[in-house]
Amino acid sequence: MGNVFPENFLWGASSSAFQIEGAWDEDGKGLTVADYNSFRKSHIQADTKVASDFYHNYEEDIDLMKELGMKTYRFSLSWARIIPDGEGEVNRKGIEFYNKVINKLIKNGIEPFVTLYHFDLPFALVEKYNGWESRKTVEAFHRYAKICFKEFGDRVKYWQPHNEQNLIVRIEERINIYDEEDKWKIDKMRAQMDYNMCLAHALAVNSCHEMIEGSKIGAAVSSSVTYPMTCKPEDVYAARMNDNFKVYYMLDMHYYGEYPGYYIKYLKERNIMPYMKDEDKPILKSAKMDFIAVNYYRTNCAEALPVDETHEFGVREGSVDFNMYGLFKMSMNPRLKATEYGASIDPSGLRVALNEYWQRYHLPLIITENGLGTPDILEDGKVHDSYRIDYLRNHIKACELAIEDGVEMLGYCPWSFMDLLSSAQGFKKRYGLVYVNRTDDDLLDMKRIKKDSFYWYQKVIANNGKLD
Ligand code: BG6
Repeated sequence: MGNVFPENFLWGASSSAFQIEGAWDEDGKGLTVADYNSFRKSHIQADTKVASDFYHNYEEDIDLMKELGMKTYRFSLSWARIIPDGEGEVNRKGIEFYNKVINKLIKNGIEPFVTLYHFDLPFALVEKYNGWESRKTVEAFHRYAKICFKEFGDRVKYWQPHNEQNLIVRIEERINIYDEEDKWKIDKMRAQMDYNMCLAHALAVNSCHEMIEGSKIGAAVSSSVTYPMTCKPEDVYAARMNDNFKVYYMLDMHYYGEYPGYYIKYLKERNIMPYMKDEDKPILKSAKMDFIAVNYYRTNCAEALPVDETHEFGVREGSVDFNMYGLFKMSMNPRLKATEYGASIDPSGLRVALNEYWQRYHLPLIITENGLGTPDILEDGKVHDSYRIDYLRNHIKACELAIEDGVEMLGYCPWSFMDLLSSAQGFKKRYGLVYVNRTDDDLLDMKRIKKDSFYWYQKVIANNGKLD
């Protein structure tokens, strides 16, 4: 097969601030929601205090990125490192740190691809405003975004406002809901936070375009591709609605500046319509994304879930893969193999997702996350992760097929460049191309060790995606 990847294709790898940086309170950084949530589990697994210690090792780590041949590095800035309480004084040490990272990347020919907010809202905004529930947080985010555009926009052209807004709002601890038990109240708060994040996204998109000439900005979506459990029409509808409620209600808002009808109907029937101002409409409508960033790990199945005596329409059950009464019930696909952490492995689902996003929005796509989480084994100083190579090969192949289908793709960044703190499972679950020698409870020597997948991916990049 010929090589279909464009010449300037952005081969890269990804990470996020709270998962790699460590130095959680160093040089003035403030506490974040991600810190707070990880400290609640410190007794059972690694937390954000040290993580992969990128804060102190960024030079060596970027040297490894260069050795890998990366054309881009997708990473996030920690809002609370730059503005410790989210809305007050700017911490120059935070700006200095990211300047050093960005300059080193550029010096090594690596395009910085920056996310502004990856699950780590400054905790002070939770204490003051209940986080995203308040418009004060929208204002604070907009100010933070503009500070970043001003400070880094001369060198950073690619931006993502939020990472996976559509996933953040499903996980209560990520939206700082801890003790509330009333499901209706939770759904009401969630709907308001979700809307406010859409507004914050739109404000950032517009300011980015105003402030940085030639900039490109787009949403990073947690993908959902859902197969009907059977060919019963109600199951087919359930699968469609699951994708709508997990992905498209949000992408439609980002793209068209308004929620789709089925989502408005849900908000009304559940009586949780968020507060929206008339003056938001032109902002939401004018914000034009330049690309969609796709984070893809797995697919699922869905079947119909009728309402019953105790569950009315729109009541949710679960979090990441929630069921919704009156619409859909999720399950794993019995025809697919899964990772030991329960993610179905489905490269052909990636081809479906890429075609879907392209056909719906005709915006170029970049994969900013795709990877296999496993407890790798270090043997004689080596990590033989042939399973990761298979996973990446099959997913890159799916990108190739999607490009042949006519999809415009800008790049591919596996998750993750190096081992990092899993968003839920500490350090045991590893995704990296580079092994970090620590465990959940022992920092060992934190040495960086190139896995077999590193050498394999290095060749893929050198050959512009031609697979062996
Ligand atoms: C994505 C997140 O949803 O999934 C990453 O953007 C996360 O931050 C990744 O690490 C994998 O999930 P987990 O829970 O295995 O770390």
